[in-house]
Amino acid sequence: MYRETNFCIERIIFCVLMLISYYFNRLEAADTCNTSIFPSTFKFGAGTSAFQIEGGWNEDGKSRSSWDWLSNTYSIYLNNATGNVASDSYHQYKQDVASMVAMGLQNYKFSLSWSRILPKGLNYSINQAGVKYYHNLLDELEAAGIEPLVTIYHWDTPYALDLLGGWTNPKMVDYFVAYADIAFSLFGDRVKLWATINEPKSFCEGILSVLVNIFPELPIGTYEYLCGHYAILAHAKAYRLYKKKYQATQQGRVSLILNLSCNMGLTNSTADQEAAERKNLFEFGWFAHPIVYGDYPDIMQVVIANNSASQGFLISRLPKFTSSEKLLIKGAYDFIMVNTYTSYMVTMANYSNSPSYQNDLQTSTSQSSEWLSSGLSTLKVHPEGTRKVLKWISDTYSSPEIIITENGFSDNTAILNDTDRIRFINATLTNIRLSMCSDSVNVTGYFYWSLIDSMEWNNGYTVKFGLVQVDFDSENRTRTLKDSAYYYKNLIQTRLIIG
Ligand code: BGC
Repeated sequence: MYRETNFCIERIIFCVLMLISYYFNRLEAADTCNTSIFPSTFKFGAGTSAFQIEGGWNEDGKSRSSWDWLSNTYSIYLNNATGNVASDSYHQYKQDVASMVAMGLQNYKFSLSWSRILPKGLNYSINQAGVKYYHNLLDELEAAGIEPLVTIYHWDTPYALDLLGGWTNPKMVDYFVAYADIAFSLFGDRVKLWATINEPKSFCEGILSVLVNIFPELPIGTYEYLCGHYAILAHAKAYRLYKKKYQATQQGRVSLILNLSCNMGLTNSTADQEAAERKNLFEFGWFAHPIVYGDYPDIMQVVIANNSASQGFLISRLPKFTSSEKLLIKGAYDFIMVNTYTSYMVTMANYSNSPSYQNDLQTSTSQSSEWLSSGLSTLKVHPEGTRKVLKWISDTYSSPEIIITENGFSDNTAILNDTDRIRFINATLTNIRLSMCSDSVNVTGYFYWSLIDSMEWNNGYTVKFGLVQVDFDSENRTRTLKDSAYYYKNLIQTRLIIG
C-alpha cells in the first residue's frame, strides 16, 4: 500500500515536472534563454576510463599497462590497490549499460585500453579478443540508444612502450597515431565523438609525485615538457589523420581533453590576478594555446627559457615547435573538452631555482574553509568555479563549443543516500546554465564523473565518485544505483534544474 501511494506521488510529481519542462521549452523556442532548463539538444552523460573500471588486466591476450605495472609492483603508493579486478567491467559491461538505461543516460564516455587492443603497444599485432570486447560494448550501447564518446588514451600506456621511454620518446607520436588509426578504422562507423588523449597535464606532471618515489633520478623540469610536447604532436597528427582518412565517410568530431580548475586571485591585487592568469596558462594554455594558436603561451616560453638559462641549461627545457609542426597543431580540434572539479585561490610563490614545472609556475594555492570537503582533500566543492572556468576558456579561445567531459563529487563511503552529490550536481548545472544564458558561453554537453565507483588511481578504492555504487567486497562487484542516479535520471528527462 505504502509503495503504491509512493509510486502514485512519484508519477504525479513527474507529470508536473514534464508540464513545467514543456512550458519552458516553449519559452526557449521563443528565443529566450531560461536558466532553469537545458535545451533538448544538450548532451547529458557520464564517464569512466578503462584502467579504472575494466579489470581483466591479463585476460584474453591483454598485456600490462603502465598502471598494471605500477599497481602490481608499487601498490604501496596506491593505497595498496591494483586495477586487476577494479569494477570488473571487462565481464560486467552489460550490467554497466543496464545501469545507464535505468538512469536514462543518453551519452557514455569510456576509454579504450591500448594494451588490450595492441599488447605490444605497436600496430603489428592486434588482439582480436580485445577488439571484440569493445565491439560488444558498442553493440550494447547501440541497442540501448546511448551515444558513445570514446577516449583513445586515458593514461594507461602499454608497459612495452614505457620501456621505450613512454611519452618522452619522440617516436611515441607515431606509435599513438598508428593506434588511433586502428581505433578509428575499427570503431569509427559507430563512434562520432572522439577524444584522442585525456588530461596530458596529469600524466606528464601530476604523476610525478608518485614516480619520484620510485625513480629519484627522474629529470624533473624536463620530463614534464618533453611528455607534453609529444602528446600535443600525437594528438594533432591523429586529428589530421582522421580528417584526411575518415572524416568523409565517418563524419565524426575529434578533440583532446584538458583539465582546468578555477584559479582566482587570492586578493584583487594585480599581482594575485596575474598569478591566477599565469596558472590558467600553465595548466590549460600549455596544451590549448598550441592547438588553438599554434604555439605555447608566451609566458611559458619566456619563463621556462629564462629559468633554464639561470639553471645552467644550454637550451630551454620547453621544446620548440618547428614551423611545419606549428601548422600541424594549429586548429587541430573540432571543439574544446574540459575536465573541471574545484577552485583555488592563487598567489605568487617564492621562486626556487631548481628545475621543475612547479617552480616555473611559481604560484601557491589555498582553498576556502567555507567550501564543503569531499572524498578527495584537494577537491573542495565550489560549483561557482565551473562558470568562471567556462568563461575563461570562452574568452581566451574565441568562444569555442565546450563540452564538460568530467565533473564530479566524491565521498569515501559510497553512501546510497548521497544528498551532497545531488546538491553538487544541481549547483554545478545551475552555474553551467548561467554560463550559457548570461555569459553566452557555448556549452553543449556535461558528462558527470563517474558512472560507477572505480579504482581512483593513487587513492585506490578509498574515493568514490560514482552515480552507481560498486560493492568491491562482493565477488561479482554488485552494482546499486545511488539516489544521485535517480536525480540525474529525472534531470535528463525533464531538463529542469530544481531549486
Ligand atoms: C581523471 C579521472 C579521475 C578524476 C578524479 C580526472 O583528472 O581524468 O580519471 O578519476 O580526475 O580524480
